[in-house]
Amino acid sequence: MSAVAKLSEIPNFGKKVISISGKEVLLVNSGGKIYAVENECPHQGSPMNASIVKDGYIACPRHGYRFSLVDGRCAEHPESVLELFQVTLSGDDISVELNSL
Ligand code: FES
Repeated sequence: MSAVAKLSEIPNFGKKVISISGKEVLLVNSGGKIYAVENECPHQGSPMNASIVKDGYIACPRHGYRFSLVDGRCAEHPESVLELFQVTLSGDDISVELNSL
């Protein structure tokens, strides 16, 4: 697993879009912890990179669905789930495993 970004590139509540094997992945810093999520809302496909990160949730900019950064489940519509990926930190290096959590 090789590094896809640097921790120093993503400040608290910051985001960065990366591409892994042709798939867009959004890295999110929430309270100093890095999460990796699909960059496409499971509701109607809006890009998540313009989302708002707050209180452990990432909110889609289009209709405001909030997805848990722990399990990807939508707070308003639990049947809607955002895909999350395994993140590994090694010093300043961020690595992402594309298998879903
Ligand atoms: S497209 Fe994301 S909430 Fe509708």
